[in-house]
This record gives sequence, C-alpha cells and structure tokens, in this order.
Amino acid sequence: MLDVLGNLEKTHSCGELRETNVGEKVVLMGWVAKKRDFGVFTFIDLRDRDGITQIVVSEETDREAHTKAKLLRGEFVVAVIGEVFSRSEGTHNSKLATGDIEVHASEILILNDAKTLPFELEKAGSQNLASEDLRLKYRYLDLRRPQLAHNIRMRARAVKEIRNYMDNLGFTEIETPILLKSTPEGARDFIVPSRIHTSKFFALPQSPQILKQICMISGLDKYYQIARCFRDEDLRADRQPEFTQLDVEISFANQETIYRIIEGMFQSVLRLIDVELPAQFPRMTYAEALRRFGSDKPDLRFEMELVDLSESFKNTDFAPFAAVLENKGEIKAIVVKGKADYSRKVTDDLQEFVKRYGASGLAWIKLGDELNSSLLKVLGEAKISELATTAKAEKGDAVLIVAGKKSVAAAALGALRIEVAKRENLIDRNAYKPLLVTEFPMFEHNDETGNYDAAHHPFTSPMDEDLEMFRTAIEDETQHELLGKVRAKAYDAVINGYECAGGSIRIHQKEIQALNFKALGLSPEVARARFGFFLDALEYGTPPHGGFAAGIERTCMILCGTENIRDVMAFPKTASAQDLMMDSPGDVDVSQLKELGIKIVE
Ligand code: AMO
Repeated sequence: MLDVLGNLEKTHSCGELRETNVGEKVVLMGWVAKKRDFGVFTFIDLRDRDGITQIVVSEETDREAHTKAKLLRGEFVVAVIGEVFSRSEGTHNSKLATGDIEVHASEILILNDAKTLPFELEKAGSQNLASEDLRLKYRYLDLRRPQLAHNIRMRARAVKEIRNYMDNLGFTEIETPILLKSTPEGARDFIVPSRIHTSKFFALPQSPQILKQICMISGLDKYYQIARCFRDEDLRADRQPEFTQLDVEISFANQETIYRIIEGMFQSVLRLIDVELPAQFPRMTYAEALRRFGSDKPDLRFEMELVDLSESFKNTDFAPFAAVLENKGEIKAIVVKGKADYSRKVTDDLQEFVKRYGASGLAWIKLGDELNSSLLKVLGEAKISELATTAKAEKGDAVLIVAGKKSVAAAALGALRIEVAKRENLIDRNAYKPLLVTEFPMFEHNDETGNYDAAHHPFTSPMDEDLEMFRTAIEDETQHELLGKVRAKAYDAVINGYECAGGSIRIHQKEIQALNFKALGLSPEVARARFGFFLDALEYGTPPHGGFAAGIERTCMILCGTENIRDVMAFPKTASAQDLMMDSPGDVDVSQLKELGIKIVE
C-alpha cells in the first residue's frame, strides 16, 4: 500500500543541505538512487535533479521508518522527514555537494514503487553506460542521470543567456511558421500533406532564412528567433534531423557588425562555464583554413598543420605521385611528433582511415634510429631525407603523406589530423579556441550534374572584389568555370573544430539575385515558382542586410564537453532518424491517409 503525499511539502532539494543546516527539521523527496543495509542502520542515497543526500534510518530510534526503509528498492519515489546531522569523523564524502551532512529519517513515505530498471543508470561513471539504443528507448530513465540532467539545464541557461544578450542589443524575437514552403538550405525537406488542399504539401523549414530576410524588407530591422529547423540529411555525431538555431538577421549591417554580434554572443554564453573567449576571434579565410588544416572548421586546440610536399615531389619518377601532380593534385603531409615507432598495424589502420575520405593510400616516413619509409624503395634514402626536412620533421617523428585531388588530400589529411590528435591525446580538453572563417566560396561544383550549386544558399552575396568575375562567369559562357573562384560574403564561427554558426551578407538587389539564379542554372520560371513571393518582395525597397544562425546543440556540446549531440537534447533521434522511445516514424491509419488523398505504393 503506497503512502499519500497529502499536504506535505518538501523543504529542500536533495542537493541543497550543508553544515549550516545542521539541527534543522527537513522534508526531502526524490528517488532511491542506492540503498545499503547494515542491520540496525539502513542508508539511502536520495536523488533529485539537484543532487543526492544521504539518509540514515536507525532501527533503534525510528523503528517504523526503518521497517519502511527495508521495503525500498532502486528508483522508488519517497518522501523523508528527518533532521540534518553533521556526518561523523571520517565519513564525509567530498564527491557530494551535501557530503558533510546526512539526514536522520524519523518518517518515510513511499510515494511510488518502480519496476526493476532495464539498465543500471550509472555503474561506475559515464564510461560504463548501457547501450545508447536501450537508453534512448527508456529516455525518461536515462534523463535521470545527473550528467544528462545537468546538460539539459545547461542548455536552458544558454538559451536564456542568448535571449538576454539579443534583447540587450535591441533585437526583437519573432516567431515564424513551421508549416511552410520549401526553403533553400540544400538538404531534403520534410513534407507535410495538406488535408484541405489535397495533393498539396507544406514543407517544414530547413531554416527560417527567407522569412527573416522578409522581416528585413518589412523594416523590422533586428530579428532573432530560437528557431526549430528540420533537415532530412545524413546524420552524424553532431547532426540531427530536427535541431534548434539562434537565428539572427539585421539590416544596414556589414560583416564586421555581424562578427561583433557573433563574438559577443559566444562570449556571454561561454561565461556560463567560466570561460572567457577573446574579444575578437582570430580570423582565417576559407582558403587558408583548407591549406593549413585541410578543413573549413579547424580545431585550433593543437597544431599539426598540413605541409605541402608537392614541390619536393616534382621531378621524382614515382608514377602514381607524378600523375597526381600532372592532374593539378597535391601531395601533403602531417608530422606526428615522436611517433617514429608507429607499428605497421597503426599505419595500416590510418591508411584505412584516409581511404574513407577518398585517398588512394597513405605513404609514410618514420625517422627512427633508422630511416624507414613506404617510399624508400622507389625514392631512395636521400630523397626521403629531403622530404622529411621539407616537412620539418625531426628525429623520432613520423610523416604521414597523402597524394590526390586537392579536395581529397585536404579532406583526408584534415580528418587524419583530428584522428591522430585523439589517438595521441594531443587535445587540451580545457581549451576553447574560437575562429571566424571568412570568404567562403560562393559556389560548389556538382560533379554529378556538372552545374554549380550555392555553397551557402542562393541569397548569399558575392564579395565586392569578385563581383566583376561573377558577372563575367555568368554573361560569358566560355568563362563559366570562373564561378568556382567567386568568393561570398559568407562566414562561419568555429569553436574547437565545430561549426557552431554560419551566415552571410545577402543579396539585396534584384539584378544580382537574378544573375545568381542564372549561375545556379535556375530558369526565371523555376526561380519564380520556388521563390516568386520573395523576388516580388525584393522589389519594394530592400535594405542591405545579413545575418547568421548558431546551432544551439553544437554550442551546448561545447558547454557540456560532449561529442554526442544527443547528450544535449531531451528527446533526440537515433543516427537513423528514429525516436526509439515513441517508436516513430510509425504507421498511420488508413483512414488518415484516405482523408489526405494519399496511397502507399508498396
Ligand atoms: P547553416 O545551414 O550553416 O545556416 O546552419 C547554421 C548552424 O546550424 C547548425 N546546424 C545543425 N545542428 C545540428 N544538426 C544539424 N543537422 C545542423 N545543421 C546545421 C550548425 C550551423 O552552423 N540560414 C542559414 C544561416 C544564415 O545564413 O543566416 C543556415 O541555416 O551549427
């Protein structure tokens, strides 16, 4: 028989009591995290979202409570009425905030029981967790883990901080609809059928991009929103199909105005974990980031920059590398300090790793007591020594080399740089290294269609310096590939190797917008069908404007020190875009489909 709460109220949380409370009569409520039976004494760790308090029940002084305590099992919900005592000498627990006190229970109410959990919440720290799928199925239990509960609260604090910050700068929070028309962020849309307009569909926003620009045309001037975005794309450890952005747009602004807002926003948010970011973030152009780090989101917590060995490989007759250079490819390397003793197995593993990024192989030089290299036979000792010197490798180091198309060499070595840094523990987990990456390319060549796609989205403005080139590439058919060289007024904010925000200055003149659609191979008819309302709006006095969006989850991953985006979301989806708790996506009734005029084709 369970007890009733009646009008009993708790006086403190389970994380609140300290020495100063000794002698007070208290009422605590929470879950039984642990129970230890020592004959006349029973100890209970009582847990709520704030922490854990040790409860002691004595058979001698409180027989009835002690009998109740015997009935308790893990995750039972209880109320404890008792008095705060200082813990006796030698039993203080420095791991608990409440570790100097304990509550001697005079009465225990069992408010609810609990089945045996399908997994132990925490065995010995978070390294020892049950499988993630099981924990996602029982998400309500996993969320009882103090670490996850902490992350969820940190996220709330971050969003509150962001709202304060934006509000102080005079931005207005404006909600935009979720039932929308397709928006252009480059992923697939999630679509929602309309019942009233059979065979028509809404699309969920990939971002509120067009609407925030329309807010600028409306003269609302400074917009922000904590916006839900939906993108049907391949998932990764830092990507979810449904996520949240701080979305910002401002009129009469240039890049510098926006950089200041981004910097200030991340500064105020990182202060939540007592980290002071620099007033101005270092800046790097996209081209430089790719050249030095093989990535447009370099992790600057460690060095290991890419070195270009292409020049040194000229005039060597190793056919595969010569062919790479002939085809305007590159041969680049990273130097791993003190790792000349990498075994064959390690270099084989790393070779498999770079192959995932399109590299055909991994060449290596090991500067151990003897010079060793996968290229020794073909290039000879003298050349290998020269290569090592060019790479600035020293005795004891290993040089890892990739040859290939520029994009492949960059991607493979950029990823290898991170992989090796993790393997060798080179990343300072207490460092926070922000960076603004600027001058992104305006277009990406699509090898499948042969067209150029918008690298950011089709409303991004070209850089003033590249406007001429932009026009020439579009107006002169023979110069079309110049599009690949046009840079955009687009930027990302990167922290510790995560792209935490991205944005751009937009095109605000219809002539440039029309040219851009042409560059993207969108005929005026298609452009009109997709964005007609927006093109119309552009004709009624559009101010120059720009903005950015910051990923709330990515930002919280930095705040919470996790590499798993699901750790900062209350109800995330799996890597295969499923909700295991609710078992969605799921079937719908045939009648619902009928109403919508939809038939499933097997
Ligand atoms: P972008 O597509 O770069 O820009 O997105 C902005 C930021 O949102 C985060 N983000 C994601 N987080 C989790 N899961 C995802 N699938 C995901 N996709 C993106 C990243 C990213 O930097 N409308 C433009 C912004 C603008 O131009 O103003 C946009 O959405 O942190």
